[in-house]
Amino acid sequence: MSDEHTVVIDNGTGYTKIGFAGEEAPRQIYRTVVESDVEGTAPVYPMQYGIINDWEAMEKVWNFGFKKYLGSSFNPSDHPVLIAETPLAPKLHREKITQAMFEGFETPGLFVANSCILSLYAAGRITGVVLDVGHATSKFVPIQEGFCLTHAVEKSNWGGQNVTLFLRKLLEQAQTQPINLDFEVINKIKEDLSFVDANYARTIETLRKQKTAAVGQQQQQQQQANGTNGTESSEQPEQQATPTSKKKSTASQSNAVEYFKNYTLPDGNIIQIGQVERLQCNEILFQPQLLHTSFKEIMPKELRPSYHTGGYQDELDELGIQQMAFDSIMKCELDIKKELTANIILSGGAATPTGFQKRVQLELENLSPSGFSVNIAPVGSAPNSKQVATWAGGAILGQLSSFNTMWIKKSEYNEFGPQIVNRRTY
Ligand SMILES: Nc1ncnc2c1ncn2[C@@H]1O[C@H](COP(=O)(O)OP(=O)(O)OP(=O)(O)O)[C@@H](O)[C@H]1O
Ligand SMILES: [Mg+2]
Repeated sequence: MSDEHTVVIDNGTGYTKIGFAGEEAPRQIYRTVVESDVEGTAPVYPMQYGIINDWEAMEKVWNFGFKKYLGSSFNPSDHPVLIAETPLAPKLHREKITQAMFEGFETPGLFVANSCILSLYAAGRITGVVLDVGHATSKFVPIQEGFCLTHAVEKSNWGGQNVTLFLRKLLEQAQTQPINLDFEVINKIKEDLSFVDANYARTIETLRKQKTAAVGQQQQQQQQANGTNGTESSEQPEQQATPTSKKKSTASQSNAVEYFKNYTLPDGNIIQIGQVERLQCNEILFQPQLLHTSFKEIMPKELRPSYHTGGYQDELDELGIQQMAFDSIMKCELDIKKELTANIILSGGAATPTGFQKRVQLELENLSPSGFSVNIAPVGSAPNSKQVATWAGGAILGQLSSFNTMWIKKSEYNEFGPQIVNRRTY
């Protein structure tokens, strides 16, 4: 086996994390996408819901990462690769990764790891339940002594991208003029400003009142500035919620300032984002039915992916992440349930917002039988530690000397072909 540093890749649907084993952080987190050279041609996303479905594009994404982020002298044929794969992926998926790495990149060694087991390692544990809320998927994975309890894994095609799409709808609804914000721009607004509250029902009521007051105040100021005192615009306060302005905001020292947050868009325009929208967007992770009940009319098809059919569902039957986590734990043997609730690991970028961890803690405490203690183990102290948890676990595993025996070597691949990978995963 090569002495060269092992490359660690967390192959996320939205974001690829790449770097070297033994290092603290990935060298880079970049979009899992192939941008088109031809203007007006759509970018290609090689993965859907954790699964690679365009292998040519995926190889381009890996190649891009190797060349651009691992140093000018980096040559993939010198470095073994440890790559994370979503739990419960089909065997053929793993075999194709194996083939691509050995034949496409001539890697000298490979290990394909369950992404959630790696997140557990990042928390320094070998037993626990991982709640990974990524960009396109959420996974709930109980693990005992390093082995995934497959029968109890829960998954859904629900994650950060749904939060972003929902935020887009909320902002459009709250806007005076039509806005046409790019997905990536809204995604960034979400990352910068969204939050989660432990008591959603109570807080959203308070914020709605603040919104009405702030919007009323803005309208009054607007009318004074215009020299009018008409009442017609106050009939639709919702429509006035997040005005945009060229280069400057009109909000003054008032409730409006506290309620709205000025946000500078990449083009220099300033948009005002209200607290209701900032809170509400993440709530669909906990209460997916919010979309179905309150927002049916604004719920586009792309917000309703069906995990079961791979298409779209007419009615939303997703469960909240707290319920899926609880269901997963309850499917495990009696003697391990308590140990699992005492060792919960939050992973995935969409688990990052302020308040998220506290909310999960409270929800699971409410669901758990008495006598169960709920404890969430940290995966690191960096602001993005949840998003890079899988990668970080891979970086720990990839540098263990005992791990040398687990790699698939090039010679073994040559002898047995891609199926060899099924003997070396756990
Ligand atoms: N501070 C933040 N607040 C809210 N969301 C965030 C934050 N940071 C990252 N995210 C979101 O996390 C998601 C990306 O997470 P992650 O990289 O874990 O997903 P992935 O691995 O690409 O997807 P998957 O695991 O579903 O295949 C994106 O939707 C991103 O906007
Ligand atoms: Mg992921």
